Amino acid sequence: MPITHVGVVGCGLMGSGIAQVCADRGFPTVIMEVTPEFLDKGLTKIRTALGRAVEKGKMSADQRDRTLGKLRGTTSLEGLRECDLVIEAATEEIAAKRKIFSTLDSLCPAQTILASNTSSLCITEIAASTKRPDRVCGLHFFNPVPVMKLVEIVKTLTSSPQTIEAIRTFSAALGKSTILAIDTPGFIVNRILVPYLLDAVRMLENGVATREDIDTGMKLGCGHPMGPLELLDFVGLDTTFYIANIMFEEFREARYAPPPLLKRMVLAGHFGQKSGRGFYDYSAR
Ligand code: CAA
Repeated sequence: MPITHVGVVGCGLMGSGIAQVCADRGFPTVIMEVTPEFLDKGLTKIRTALGRAVEKGKMSADQRDRTLGKLRGTTSLEGLRECDLVIEAATEEIAAKRKIFSTLDSLCPAQTILASNTSSLCITEIAASTKRPDRVCGLHFFNPVPVMKLVEIVKTLTSSPQTIEAIRTFSAALGKSTILAIDTPGFIVNRILVPYLLDAVRMLENGVATREDIDTGMKLGCGHPMGPLELLDFVGLDTTFYIANIMFEEFREARYAPPPLLKRMVLAGHFGQKSGRGFYDYSAR
């Protein structure tokens, strides 16, 4: 069954980006949020992003209107019952995700594929809350979704080869390159990225160098678009702390253990760009 109609659960930073890319590539896309206010906020984010693309001459006004015409909002999972693929990008809480997946399982046709954008939770556990574990997999996008060219496909012990193939074809239609990982904490990218980010915090904590020199080192020495501390501010210190804890819990290896400074910054509410303060100050933005 080809994927023609897409549903996205959650219209936050990741969900809105995912819905934008799907609609832009011509897929009729339904976005679900829990309240009309959250839905409106997410749709506004998409309209603003598309408006900026038109202003910059990266997109025609016609294409923007076509993209917006493909998008529809709903505040109930029932609104996703016609979809061939539902991509869940809700809060990173296992209980909430299990509930969403078991509800979607009871609503959607048998052939619908259910995918999670989780960066840290166990896809196998999410799949086990459905009666279709063969049609559940991970589909992990990167922030900012419209810009980053990669998606990670995550195969559980129960995902069928047909599901993985359908998701590969769909990802290619979105213009994304794919990599395939088995369901282990961090998959491929975060398995490497998270210990790297934690090492940068340890380095700052130990007084090896200033934040600017750590970031400049990795930008100019290795060609990264952002230094690790800038990237932590961009991804969110709270998000990284959460992922690191899950990885440490599972592997029990010191390199995944969040350093004391990271924990204290999170406790102080210094989450990075989103809270106005992290390793750098964004309060003037
Ligand atoms: N949302 C949407 N688009 C954005 C954006 C955002 N937040 N930030 C920048 N862009 C777009 C801009 O509109 C611009 O598009 P055009 O070229 O079409 O005009 C393009 O990105 C480049 O932006 P800028 O020129 O303003 O800025 P830049 O060149 O410094 O690039 C960046 C910004 C793309 C964010 C770049 O710094 C970068 O690639 N940083 C690294 C991002 C990264 O590593 N992401 C992965 C994080 S890990 C993750 O997501 C997984 C996880 O599970 C934690």
